[in-house]
Amino acid sequence: MSDDYWNHNVHYHPVVLGAVPDACGEALDIGCGDGLLTRKLAGRARQATGVDRSAEMIRLARERGAHAGNVAFVEADFLDDAQGRFPEGKYDFVSAVAVVHHMDFEAAVTRMARLLAPGGRLAIVGLAGNHTALDWIISGAGVPASRIQALRHGGKVDPPGMPVEDARMSWDQVRREARRLLPGCRFRRHLLWRYSIVWERREAASAPRPPAGD
Ligand SMILES: C[S@@+](CC[C@H](N)C(=O)[O-])C[C@H]1O[C@@H](n2cnc3c(N)ncnc32)[C@H](O)[C@@H]1O
Repeated sequence: MSDDYWNHNVHYHPVVLGAVPDACGEALDIGCGDGLLTRKLAGRARQATGVDRSAEMIRLARERGAHAGNVAFVEADFLDDAQGRFPEGKYDFVSAVAVVHHMDFEAAVTRMARLLAPGGRLAIVGLAGNHTALDWIISGAGVPASRIQALRHGGKVDPPGMPVEDARMSWDQVRREARRLLPGCRFRRHLLWRYSIVWERREAASAPRPPAGD
């Protein structure tokens, strides 16, 4: 399997790459899977690191990414970083594609935002669930769009063995929580069953507060 494959997550990589700040130093791709996006980030950042808690995904990512000098892959749970491998305030760019629904939204987004250096950017692409009739109608419009894109790209391909989860939060819940936790973020709902959130950490005071009890 080469790096030239298409699926609904890969389709929104341009949204993520478009959010990378100029002269990006450190980029962190959370839940990197087979590392395709991390390798793309390595072309735009001095150093790109992919983290995933799946040993199998990290093995695949290292196998496919060994050629690039400024890319590294770490097997770890980014929420449970007892070893301090991902220091808060270190990263100019943090991405998470199809990952946030694997964990508690508030805990994940809060931690991602804290990893950013002032002026750094967070780009999330995620999935949500259809809870209303309107949700189902909008999602239905994605069916022909997905078929056309799959035809254009020679089919939809997912990395083998990639851990997947169902999305429980609704589109509306994600939008509301994103705006509460990341004031000033840009939330967009996309046709191929994904949303994107882009947020810039302007100053220390705008970083989200920790969840209650933290
Ligand atoms: C659906 S896959 C998406 C992978 C990749 N971002 C992509 O777009 O192909 C979600 C990934 O997130 C990883 N993941 C879930 N929770 C994680 C956590 N707390 N820390 C690190 N990785 C996590 C899973 O192991 C899985 O590889």
